[in-house]
Amino acid sequence: MTARQSYNDEHRALIESAHRLLPGGSVGNVYDDTILRRGAGSRVHDVSDNEYIDYLLGSGPMLCGHAHPQVTEAVRRQIEHGTTFFATHELAIALAEQIVAAVPCAEQVRFTGTGTEATLYAMRVARAARGRDRILKFEGGYHGMNDYALMSTFASGSAELPAAEPDSAGLPGSVADEVLVAPFNDIDATAAIIERHHDELAAVIVEPMQRVIPPLPRFLPSLRALTAKHGILLIFDEIVTGFRLAYDGAQGYYGVVPDLCTIGKVMAGGFPLAAVTGRSDLLACFDPSSRADGRYLPQYGTFNGNPVAAAAALATLDLLRRPGTYDRLFDIGRELMAGLRAAFAEADIPVQVMGEPPVFDIFFTDQTITTYRDTLTNDVAAVRRFNRHLLDRGIFRPDSKFYVSVVHSPTDVEQTIAAFADAARALRDE
Ligand SMILES: Cc1ncc(COP(=O)(O)O)c(C=O)c1O
Repeated sequence: MTARQSYNDEHRALIESAHRLLPGGSVGNVYDDTILRRGAGSRVHDVSDNEYIDYLLGSGPMLCGHAHPQVTEAVRRQIEHGTTFFATHELAIALAEQIVAAVPCAEQVRFTGTGTEATLYAMRVARAARGRDRILKFEGGYHGMNDYALMSTFASGSAELPAAEPDSAGLPGSVADEVLVAPFNDIDATAAIIERHHDELAAVIVEPMQRVIPPLPRFLPSLRALTAKHGILLIFDEIVTGFRLAYDGAQGYYGVVPDLCTIGKVMAGGFPLAAVTGRSDLLACFDPSSRADGRYLPQYGTFNGNPVAAAAALATLDLLRRPGTYDRLFDIGRELMAGLRAAFAEADIPVQVMGEPPVFDIFFTDQTITTYRDTLTNDVAAVRRFNRHLLDRGIFRPDSKFYVSVVHSPTDVEQTIAAFADAARALRDE
């Protein structure tokens, strides 16, 4: 297999325009020169018509593949009947019904446009319901781009916890005081922070699998018990894991049920739609009739529960409920993870392949990873070089994580594993 990515004149001109018109030449997510034009199934094409097997999958949503005919047809049907109403729409009710049936903690649903909004509102609901301000999150945990989420996600690892490190310029200084930070998977240290601060805490927010670090067996059950003991709300951020680890999400997969959770990505089949869901006594904060007891939380949003996105979501959930879907997803992911490990064992380069089969990643380190600070031993320059070698071999994963879909075919898997081996050898021989 040889390096093959090349750009035509149109592509080069678009790169120039991108750098003139978009800060960093990017829409904000991926900062390289691959400019995509189209996707179908497991494959995407750039404007030079290079074809790639896609493991970015829109950062996770496209579990059923790009432009799935059933999703496309559902969207087309809805578009012909109107694209947005602001008012409550029948498809939003139908989708809420499916979510309540699927997600263990879900009794009611409030839709948002993005995961960032969903986590913002989940934390706000917790503050409103519990009458406390502070939120505990985990170092390295990602909850989107709202001010409270942007604490210690990309942390240096040198802060003395529970002090929060702001991740972005432009955040009000006061926000850091409202966020406490604990080490994911270290239940003793987390328990000590919760015991010391329980009376100030509204909620603990956690990615049940933090990025690609699976929880240690005791971690989530102990977190559930500790938060319940003090009446602190437990929020699972399932924007990634919802409908990806299982149809009932990480809470089904790991067997721990939170008070509130956020879902997005896979659920909406490639459309901007997310949700806060959970106990109905908590979701009641969104109901104007809770004004009387001072807990009302307005949540206007032009595209909340958008009917086109809801149509895509209903069609997607329909596909996901088909027997065998998750078995296939896990089989594909397991094969890819094994191929990745074998490629680096053969090249004699120490790596850690982490995660669960539907979403995993590689770390260039010989250290076992269970906490965020362990991930800081990752050789990020080697990751970048590996990604470049993969891109040249037709594998698209520009940054971190491999997202797996149910439409990655045996041929895709075979080609990907061959590319892993080839790229690992290229890295070794550099
Ligand atoms: C765990 C988690 N929470 C929240 C978000 C934010 O979602 P969105 O990008 O839709 O705002 C993401 C996005 O990647 C995420 O992975």
